[in-house]
Amino acid sequence: MLSSRRGGTPTSGGGDDEEDPASTAASSSAEEPKTHPPATLTARLASYTRSLVSLSTSSTSFSSHCLTISLFIAFLFSLLGLSVLLRYSRPVACIPPYDPLARSVHFSRRLEGLASDFGSLGVPWCRSKQGRTVEWAPSDLIKALEEFVPIYETRPIKNNMYGMGFDHSFGLWFMARWLEPDLMVESGAFKGHSTWILRQARPDAKIISLSPRHPEKYLKKGPAYVDPNCTYFTGKNFVDFGSMSWGKVLGQHGVKDLSKVLVFFDDHQNELKRLKQALKAGFRHLIFEDNYDTGTGDHYSLRQICDQSYIRGGGHSCFRDGDEARIRLKRKKFWDKALDIDEICGKGEAWWGVRGYMRDDFNHSNKAISYAEHFQNSRFVESILNVYWELPPVAGPSLTHQTRYDPARASDPIVEDGRYALFQRLGLGKLDSSVFNGYTQMVYVEISR
Ligand SMILES: C[S@@+](CC[C@H](N)C(=O)[O-])C[C@H]1O[C@@H](n2cnc3c(N)ncnc32)[C@H](O)[C@@H]1O
Repeated sequence: MLSSRRGGTPTSGGGDDEEDPASTAASSSAEEPKTHPPATLTARLASYTRSLVSLSTSSTSFSSHCLTISLFIAFLFSLLGLSVLLRYSRPVACIPPYDPLARSVHFSRRLEGLASDFGSLGVPWCRSKQGRTVEWAPSDLIKALEEFVPIYETRPIKNNMYGMGFDHSFGLWFMARWLEPDLMVESGAFKGHSTWILRQARPDAKIISLSPRHPEKYLKKGPAYVDPNCTYFTGKNFVDFGSMSWGKVLGQHGVKDLSKVLVFFDDHQNELKRLKQALKAGFRHLIFEDNYDTGTGDHYSLRQICDQSYIRGGGHSCFRDGDEARIRLKRKKFWDKALDIDEICGKGEAWWGVRGYMRDDFNHSNKAISYAEHFQNSRFVESILNVYWELPPVAGPSLTHQTRYDPARASDPIVEDGRYALFQRLGLGKLDSSVFNGYTQMVYVEISR
């Protein structure tokens, strides 16, 4: 499955094959630079040019002689430059970002372990209707990280176990700031850390928070955050996102333009269910905190839904002696959340969702679904997606010392392994390594019918 692109480019291979005795003899003459690559087409051209030069210079003046020699040397150097360029450059591949076939061919050529969009196993992603992507670039993320670290250091809840860590806190803050919503809806508040993050991103925007328990309840035991400009539907007033009269509530908050609303789900509910509810209410911008990989997590996620066999790394093979089983076994030794084939595959070789189940509500409810149903779900999701973007991990595992998520199942980190100086410059080195252990592929989607 994972073939390597070894050896040189067609240029270097072709050059060696084309070596000809006449040009090899010429290369040993005094005018040839010592660093010249093996005699090739280049050498042949050079010797041809030399013969032309010797013909044309026999009856010229000294100055035109000098000019010709200079031109000749310049020509030789450009040939040398060109051949070096061709030898060491990679073939330019133009891969349409949402063409699974082209991507799979391209990525399967890469060496195992080298950086790629989604690591060596490859992972499925959801295809948007027109292949649109987000407006921000990696450089925007790096710039924003520098700003966010000092903000994060002032968080009221230092230990947010069971809630968001650094990666997702940054992702939520970055996207809320970029998208500039007038209203932010949060489903799943816990002690209020994510409410605090939303507030840092948009100091004057309204927030609506839905959660069975009010964050103030946690204050008895330790730090929590209660926002003064947030409408809480919690405790006795709790209403599930899917049961809310959104028309009425948005009217009360003076919101007319639903494209100015950002909905953030961290409530561990089936994301297909949430997507349909959000679509029905007319919301367009959604963030799902826990976008679990196939075989993991307590609810059916977008990533699971889009996991289909036509995408590299998707549509798993339950064959115990296959490549996937072998790679997974290897990954499991290093990464806490990596799964082996027995964990991926359930009864009847059902691999989709979690061993053929669509989980919901913290896995308090789950339903076995057929592959046909799972496939239909992906068709539905992709039919309403304008944009699908997974937040990359903030920094490579060798920098953050995280061991939970498997980097082969995630996009390349914002600060890649080896960029220690950048990691330090951004202030990431000051943070406790435990804050980097909660990455689960937070995803932003823009939807419409
Ligand atoms: C993982 S915690 C949220 C963490 C929080 N966003 C943070 O970053 O600190 C999940 C929260 O969802 C709440 N929850 C459970 N069922 C819910 C539902 N149907 N709607 C909204 N929230 C729900 C839980 O009570 C819990 O507070």
